[in-house]
Amino acid sequence: MPNAKFQRPDAKLLLRLILPFEILLLEKLSKTRSIMPKLTVEGIGEFEIPTGKRLVNALRQEVSSDQLHACGGNARCTTCRVEFVSGEPSKMTVAEKQLLEARGLSGVRLGCQILCQEDMSVRIISRLEGSGRKDCGSACSEELAPQPVEWTTKS
Ligand code: FES
Repeated sequence: MPNAKFQRPDAKLLLRLILPFEILLLEKLSKTRSIMPKLTVEGIGEFEIPTGKRLVNALRQEVSSDQLHACGGNARCTTCRVEFVSGEPSKMTVAEKQLLEARGLSGVRLGCQILCQEDMSVRIISRLEGSGRKDCGSACSEELAPQPVEWTTKS
């Protein structure tokens, strides 16, 4: 007669205990995945972007484009400019608004000042290729800069 202390665990019982956790985990992953915004880049493709990621970083990391960002995402240079095809956010940082106005730019947005929170479609218009620069620019932090971030609306 086997010793009760060393009996092998019942496989069916183990499955009954583990399965609900696996289902919960899969549901959570599925929900997380479904709310990731879709970034469409004209001529390149569609990409799922972690919610809240800076557009400039998504263009560099998820899209693997050579989008410029000379000032490192600090709203000083405008090389991160993109044109929106659709899904342009109506809110913008005060830093973006002031820089675009100071440079007399319209019809473009600064990728370093935009967070990917909704589906959007953009056209890359400021690339390393053909720019004469040696690289795309300093790395942009994960958080918006400059801090503190103040928000306003586009119009
Ligand atoms: S303004 Fe320089 S990287 Fe955006």
